[in-house]
Amino acid sequence: MNIVDTCGLSTSVANPIARDAVARYVDTVLRYSAHWESALEALEIEPENVLVRVLAADFYLAKGNVAETQEQLRHALRVEESGPDSLSPRERALSRAMRQWLVEGAPHEALATLMDALTQWPTDLFMLKRAQLVAFVLGDYKAMLQAARISERECQETPLFYGLLSFALEQNGEAGLAEVAARRALEIDARDVWAQHCLAHTLYFSGRHEEGTAFLQAHASDWDDCMSFMYTHNYFHLAIAHLALGHWRTVEHIFDEHVWPLAEPAPVGDGRAFARTDRADVQDQLGALGLLLKYELRRAVYGVDNPVASRWASVLEYVALPVRSLDPLHDVLVVHALVRLGRLDEAEVAVNTTMREYVEAQQDVSRRNDLTVQWLGYARGVLAAGRGDWGEAAELITQALATHGGAAMGGSNEQREVLHEFLLLALDNSGQS
Ligand SMILES: [Fe+2]
Repeated sequence: MNIVDTCGLSTSVANPIARDAVARYVDTVLRYSAHWESALEALEIEPENVLVRVLAADFYLAKGNVAETQEQLRHALRVEESGPDSLSPRERALSRAMRQWLVEGAPHEALATLMDALTQWPTDLFMLKRAQLVAFVLGDYKAMLQAARISERECQETPLFYGLLSFALEQNGEAGLAEVAARRALEIDARDVWAQHCLAHTLYFSGRHEEGTAFLQAHASDWDDCMSFMYTHNYFHLAIAHLALGHWRTVEHIFDEHVWPLAEPAPVGDGRAFARTDRADVQDQLGALGLLLKYELRRAVYGVDNPVASRWASVLEYVALPVRSLDPLHDVLVVHALVRLGRLDEAEVAVNTTMREYVEAQQDVSRRNDLTVQWLGYARGVLAAGRGDWGEAAELITQALATHGGAAMGGSNEQREVLHEFLLLALDNSGQS
């Protein structure tokens, strides 16, 4: 019997309750809602299904649990190799791509598999979302857009599609088209929080900060049901729009209440859902550290006592040290924090041990080279700045950001903007500006 999922695509998930959990999981991912535990609900019902195992791997990836992610993908492969061949070709392609990316350490091959699969099943928005994520991690923005363009013709009326198109356009410098796509997404669904985020990007980069703060503030209640990344990241956007307007106290307030709140968040559901804020989450830490650095640079108070100076330690307290290289941009911001707090020895260990070893372990030669020049080069520049050698810092950071703006470190243009702002300080302090 050919069973189809909610997108009308053939699926091997036989149990209707598990199928419903899978559909809710996909919706959760696209909406960044808190209820990622639906992947585990499907796993409890149909543990020997490959797609269910792959989505469980995806869940653990979002939780930052690499070992369990890989175990779920290996289990999926064992099922695939031993079980009856009911798996749909689409599910087989997704399983293969996730394995290439997360077990075999071959992200470029994973991206090729996902792009090929999208060509065959362009309405599969989960496939598109993951293709864009792999491309994003690689800093390959052209591929992000290419993936969205593959799906565009088939998804003209599809809710949640235009946000994916908008973000890819914005990352490719097409702010005008990105705004049109974001507004189209919001016409279809005004509560599409990813599209709200995309519109925030376009307003920020076109300098419309009053409009940006008003728009985001008006939609902030929509983020209450989001996972911590989306909740804290949309507030991060609200904060940087205020920062651009010089509203220092408002930024401090948003940081304390939403980006890095000191109060423990209330648990959601049975505890397996994602909390609204999560201090152990790498993405939450990344946003908080990036905002602190940007605040100090914009207000010209980097390295001196100022209203946010004590917040550096309050974030670093929750960072697992030495850094685990789950997210390269996160790691350089942690190096920034260590240097900012005068913990130079720990910063040296992070850069010259854990980060360097991570780079050397990369199988993909071009990835290894990109990370060496851009990621390690930038981090070594921050170390040099910490030693007071601003000339060397300026030289290393200039070189690191010269290639695609440091895109190999991951993060969006706007998340990496702060690295370019730090370069300006390095140039200034070394007498080169
Ligand atoms: Fe963003």
